[in-house]
Amino acid sequence: MNEKNLEGDMMRHRKWWEDAIIYQIYPRSFKDTDGDGIGDINGILEKLDYIESLGVNTVWINPMILSNQEDNGYDVISYTKVDPLFGSEADGERLIRALKDRGMRIIFDFPLNHTSDQHPWFQEALKGPENPYRDYYIWANGKDNRPYPNNWTAAFGGSAWSKELNGDQYYLHLFKQSMPDVNWDHPPLREEMAEVLKYWIGKGIDGFRLDAFIYIDVDKDFPEHPDGTGPGQDLNENGEKIPDHLSEMNRSIKDAGEDVFLVGEATSADAELTQWYTDPENNMVDKIITMQYFPEKEDEKDDAVPGGKQHAPLDLKAFKEVQKTFQEQEGEAGGPVLFWTNHDMPRSPHKYGSASPEHRDNTAKMMAVLLYLQKGIPIIYNGEEIGMKNTAFDDPGNIPDAGVMDFYQEAEKVGWDHNKIMGHLNLTARDVGRGIMQWEDSEKVGFTDGRPWALYNRETKYNVEDQEKDENSILHFYRKLIELKKTQLFQEGAYEMLETKDTLYAYRRTLDDKEALVCCNFSEEEDTIEIAEEWTSDHIVLENDGNSLEGGRLHLSPYGAAVFVKDE
Ligand code: NOJ
Repeated sequence: MNEKNLEGDMMRHRKWWEDAIIYQIYPRSFKDTDGDGIGDINGILEKLDYIESLGVNTVWINPMILSNQEDNGYDVISYTKVDPLFGSEADGERLIRALKDRGMRIIFDFPLNHTSDQHPWFQEALKGPENPYRDYYIWANGKDNRPYPNNWTAAFGGSAWSKELNGDQYYLHLFKQSMPDVNWDHPPLREEMAEVLKYWIGKGIDGFRLDAFIYIDVDKDFPEHPDGTGPGQDLNENGEKIPDHLSEMNRSIKDAGEDVFLVGEATSADAELTQWYTDPENNMVDKIITMQYFPEKEDEKDDAVPGGKQHAPLDLKAFKEVQKTFQEQEGEAGGPVLFWTNHDMPRSPHKYGSASPEHRDNTAKMMAVLLYLQKGIPIIYNGEEIGMKNTAFDDPGNIPDAGVMDFYQEAEKVGWDHNKIMGHLNLTARDVGRGIMQWEDSEKVGFTDGRPWALYNRETKYNVEDQEKDENSILHFYRKLIELKKTQLFQEGAYEMLETKDTLYAYRRTLDDKEALVCCNFSEEEDTIEIAEEWTSDHIVLENDGNSLEGGRLHLSPYGAAVFVKDE
């Protein structure tokens, strides 16, 4: 190592989030205390002992700010008011304080790309072109006698443009008609957004998830989509002004909180883009949450039916390549964000592994080991730690997610029957992963006294109460895994993926004299990995059921996983 690197290395101050182990709470579905069937802040407060008992040190909570609730908090009416649906301002402050008192960090969601159409800024903007808030949003005139300025579609259906009621212009909404995009080219808007962050930093918030931030640089020439009609997002993602916008915001919040963690949601970011976004020189975000981790076997999909809502198994070969690339590229700065599932995705062990009774526990445990002991920051989505499965809809009309009805109709046209179509939707629609938290095996699963807002599963064994009592449960396994993840070897150790066949997944972590070997079987068949004979059963610090070791031959059960650690 040359002197300059050595110096840089010694100087590098390890940021708190490099050791973060994040628990994601979807507040609607976590715990209801007032009987309206929707989770609330007091519910989170009630479960703080539980959250702390997991061993996590950071909590990310999906939006609880005032919203029209058409997109569950992402359609913002006020960036600084707590939505009464979840509690009072005082409840919000109590929650922040209580988490801090327990030494935990808190990350809030920051939907900075759009507001609700009920936001006062938009209501003002609607008053006409002279209104000072007009430029907080993006407007265009109709063109060529067409009903819309161009052919862009919105992510949640329909055109990306809607006409104002009392005027002739159209406003842009890349997601949904009721969620107008804000105009980041307009300096006062940018100042307001920075003020929002300062407000929450002042309240004790440690970090923010920047929702859909990759769309904040809209091409004001509004070029037509080349496919005749197509998502406006395609033409407006990852724009070149994003570094300017975000670094300006970061400079402005610096005094309020130098150690604020920014994690950006960039659904389309590959490793290269992730690096661009996270490069400290560009001063944009610290980490990226990308949806590119989960390549599926596209060749197993039926071309005659839309691909987005069609389920296909994980392409393990491609998945490994993606993981390896992210581990290598992000390695220097503590590694990438590691997650299997979130509120926008079906629950992954069920989707990509096996939910059959004999393999369900092993699948959940193996998948957690595989991903979270790599370099990087785990995000555990509430319910994952007890192996919750997806909820199952029987009527596509009850699934709010976009594209569901189109998919249903297209699939019906080519002869798919109802059960087959629903089988796919129940593994692709984002709503299936939003079921309420299974606290116990009772009628309302311990979530509420009222009528739960979402579909849910009631199951013996797959609830917190039952798993607390069972030492071999997924819950206890997660706790052990999190303890292991907190050790220096797994936080800071070097990473090396080992060559194996596609259905096996193995890697080494090394730090000074310490070494770990992590071996996983991502298949329903038993399998064997040859490992060096120096590894013995005494080195196994964590494993799931049914594995055995015979002089260098590690027999892994279906979805088996074993973690070896040598301490000197
Ligand atoms: C991403 C959020 O995770 C999702 O739930 C939301 O609908 C969109 N961004 C729009 O804000």
